[in-house]
Amino acid sequence: MSGIFISIEGPEGSGKSTHAERLIERLKNAGREVVAVREPGGTNTGEAIRNILQHNSADEDIYPETETLLFAACRAQLVHAVIKPALNEGKCVVSDRFIDSTVAYQGYGRGFAIKDIIDINKFAISGIMPDLTILLDVNIEIGFNRIIEHNQKIGKELDRMELAGKEFHEKVRDGYLELAKQAPERFTIIDSSRDLDMVANDIWEAVSNLLQQQND
Ligand SMILES: Nc1ncnc2c1ncn2[C@@H]1O[C@H](COP(=O)(O)OP(=O)(O)O)[C@@H](O)[C@H]1O
Ligand SMILES: [Mg+2]
Repeated sequence: MSGIFISIEGPEGSGKSTHAERLIERLKNAGREVVAVREPGGTNTGEAIRNILQHNSADEDIYPETETLLFAACRAQLVHAVIKPALNEGKCVVSDRFIDSTVAYQGYGRGFAIKDIIDINKFAISGIMPDLTILLDVNIEIGFNRIIEHNQKIGKELDRMELAGKEFHEKVRDGYLELAKQAPERFTIIDSSRDLDMVANDIWEAVSNLLQQQND
């Protein structure tokens, strides 16, 4: 059986982490071996970079160029150390964010040339692209309300990226939708403002179709 690579994308609070977990459970129940990764992170080097990016652990302002390259570095390590070997072993890889996050956040959000972002990342990923990208679409207000509510429950503050402002996050959301329009064969857009179970079922339907195609 050949490997399958699924990425889950979307704005803050769209439910990526929640649905990554649910999808992994369902894939396991369907008898697939699953490797779960999250971005930024997923390797020792990547988790160290995640701390810099999300919690400013290097204790200085991060320039947008630096931020872009750190995300790409993180991704390169994850692809070579984890994703590629897992796919070669026929496993299912589920990634909470992948290349589209960088294009949406650093390209559409920060305003860097989309082509530059894609070129840098193509170098990082060495041709390993998702077979299916689930785009969980939700408006910014709903997403942030969910995050604020969730953070209140667990006593956590908003992270550096979450603090970037509404206008930035609107651009990110629009960027994601534009990316999906450009690659409809890879993307499935799912309205994530709905009930969790409805969203989970739509995700499973998209993934089931992919598994079916693999068996045909
Ligand atoms: N469809 C939904 N309806 C209600 N709450 C949701 C929904 N999707 C996610 N949430 C809640 O929103 C919060 C953020 O979800 P999370 O999966 O962490 O989002 P992300 O990883 O995309 O930032 C969590 O508390 C989660 O339970
Ligand atoms: Mg998350």
